Amino acid sequence: AGIQLTDPDLSARVAAGLGRVEDLLERELISEFSFVTEAASHLMHAGGKRFRPLFTLVAAGVGPRPDAEEVVVASAVVELIHLATLYHDDVMDEAQIRRGAKSANARWDNSIAILTGDFLFAHASRLVASLGEDAVRIIAETFAELVTGQTRETVGPGPDEDPIDHHLRVLDEKTASLIDTCARYAGIFSGAPEEHVLALRRYGRAVGVAFQISDDILDICSTDSGKTPGTDLREGVRTLPALYTLGDPAADPRLRELVAGPIRSETDLAEAVTLLTASPGMATARQTLSGYADAAAAELALLPDSSAKDALASLVRYVMDRTR
Ligand code: FPP
Ligand code: MG
Ligand code: MG
Repeated sequence: AGIQLTDPDLSARVAAGLGRVEDLLERELISEFSFVTEAASHLMHAGGKRFRPLFTLVAAGVGPRPDAEEVVVASAVVELIHLATLYHDDVMDEAQIRRGAKSANARWDNSIAILTGDFLFAHASRLVASLGEDAVRIIAETFAELVTGQTRETVGPGPDEDPIDHHLRVLDEKTASLIDTCARYAGIFSGAPEEHVLALRRYGRAVGVAFQISDDILDICSTDSGKTPGTDLREGVRTLPALYTLGDPAADPRLRELVAGPIRSETDLAEAVTLLTASPGMATARQTLSGYADAAAAELALLPDSSAKDALASLVRYVMDRTR
């Protein structure tokens, strides 16, 4: 999932941790109602990357007690929260596909998808209680931030707001906030000193936004076959390269027209993808991505050398490399 574990000890610890996370997740799926268990298992087993637990387990290598049980429990909590938000997000986005499978709202219906999200959220809350009051407060604040980001995205930029600032803020709240919390839990529960926890958190924020920007870029430039480039454009979702294009009065007028949308045909979509790929807006988006990647790397430089730090550095390279 983008994190390279070259050290065998780290790799073994993380693999063992992921196994225990899987057991914890499995336990949280059991409902009195079999359809809820089924709907909750659906995305859990649909081949998620378990990126957040993996990231948390790796980051715990920065502290003196990476093996602490709390690190494993926290890793399961963040995955449950993430899963819960996906059920609700797919209802709001009317998404039909998630993780290569039918979304819960498409396979069942909106009520079941919403209830399943609530169910997972309730179980995450129960599990996090075992980690103590601070952990509960942290996840509550994170959850509030996720909701704020989702709301800010729904509302759109204000009349005096720069649409690019708005977009980056949504990415920070909607995605990076939970990565920050993964890093924070990892640092706290592995016993890392405060200054290292803070550096890890800032790293998590920066790499979280960078990852989302790389998704924005990949949507247009993706060369991996079988995936049509320009899905966001087709759906009228304005991602960073499109926003830079719209914000630049000197940009190619035909591209501005296409990006402003709506896209009316497959020919228009193909033209938009070709023009946007080679556009100054795309170049600026890549620069913004590099800025976040550099910021993430700079935070890592504040941490003592370790195999965990190397693995976290590989994630920054991955986020850059996947868009090349
Ligand atoms: C995915 O974004 C959405 C999020 C990461 C955050 C969603 C947050 C909520 C729905 C808050 C409320 C949740 C609950 C459980 C009360 P996206 O739609 O851009 O990404 P996608 O391509 O993965 O769908
Ligand atoms: Mg969505
Ligand atoms: Mg969404």
